[in-house]
Amino acid sequence: MVAKTFRGLEDVLFNELKQLGASDLKKGNRMVEFTGDKDLMYRANFHLRTALRVLKPIAEFKVTDDKELYNKIQTIDWSIYFDLKNTFAVDSVVYSEHFSHSKYVALRVKDAIVDQFREKFQKRPYVDVEDPDVRINIHISNDLCTVSLDSSGDSLHKRGYRLKTNKAPLNEVLAAGMILISGWNKTDVFVDPMCGSGTLVIEAAMIANNIPPGIYRKKFGFETWNDFDNNLLENIYEEDSPEVESDIKIVGSDISEIAIRIAKENISNAGLKRKIDLHINPIENYIPPKTEKGIIITNPPYGERIKINEINSFYKGLGDKFKDRYKGYEVWLLSSNFGAIKHIGLHPSKKLTLFNGPLECKFLNYSIYEGSKKSKYN
Ligand SMILES: C[S@@+](CC[C@H](N)C(=O)[O-])C[C@H]1O[C@@H](n2cnc3c(N)ncnc32)[C@H](O)[C@@H]1O
Repeated sequence: MVAKTFRGLEDVLFNELKQLGASDLKKGNRMVEFTGDKDLMYRANFHLRTALRVLKPIAEFKVTDDKELYNKIQTIDWSIYFDLKNTFAVDSVVYSEHFSHSKYVALRVKDAIVDQFREKFQKRPYVDVEDPDVRINIHISNDLCTVSLDSSGDSLHKRGYRLKTNKAPLNEVLAAGMILISGWNKTDVFVDPMCGSGTLVIEAAMIANNIPPGIYRKKFGFETWNDFDNNLLENIYEEDSPEVESDIKIVGSDISEIAIRIAKENISNAGLKRKIDLHINPIENYIPPKTEKGIIITNPPYGERIKINEINSFYKGLGDKFKDRYKGYEVWLLSSNFGAIKHIGLHPSKKLTLFNGPLECKFLNYSIYEGSKKSKYN
């Protein structure tokens, strides 16, 4: 199978899959390949925090033009996978000199499938791009075409707890990936002082309490497949949720009252009200919980709508506050504003590249200890 993710999260996804018991693991670009049975496929969808979707390949062949593609798609017996009563949809990703339009590829595949059903049963199954019973994924790399069934359906970042968002919310998969990359030990105090709609604090509380991300989902793609095993999924729900009662402190704060109201709703949807404290406060005034060891993971404004000198001095202010008030904390900050980052005035001990949608970001780690010094170059 193939678990897909965002660029920069391949290592954490690899580790998650290893812990789930997947074998033959192989990292690629924005994905990890692995081997496993149906049980593992269900578990992967239910447990993986950093996967966007899990694909199950059903055919692989060489192809160099659309006629050949049509013919080879017709050699697959589609009635094994779905019936006339089911709806389907085709997604395609193409990196090939032989095919320039991924939409056209998807269309030809759809035609080949519809024509096969028509020839066999004199009737056709219908396409539903919004909520199909079976989602087919076509991946063409040069002349190699892989045909897969998408076992996730809707992207796995749609956990189901976030009904409302504020401005620029983080994707849930990216938020979980940031927390796992930080190596947070699930016991140190966790703070996001610019928490917006609360994605990081919610994902942190789920990680600390061992709550699987799939618990909130209404549906996975494989539930409408011909071979769906309801008992297997029920076992995973029932046996497989050793929720631990963690009483660690998780705190979110934001300057915006609206953001905190939305965060509150999302936290309540996730059933995490007792696990997360929220405050309305500008970071300029915010005093984090006093602790020997804490972690800040945050996603400050990148400054797209603010003047450059204002955002530079905002980041300088962040660095000053971290240095003064966050002694004992590991600070992790995600930002696409490389110019403003320089004004933080602290020397990062780690610097990674992640992507927030199309935006290339740095994910920086600052260790704040007694006497943290401004870096030399500043
Ligand atoms: C990029 S958004 C964070 C989004 C959040 N990670 C989420 O998933 O919804 C930045 C947040 O910083 C907040 N913010 C801006 N200036 C602030 C300040 N001075 N103090 C505290 N929060 C601030 C904004 O209200 C916004 O919610």
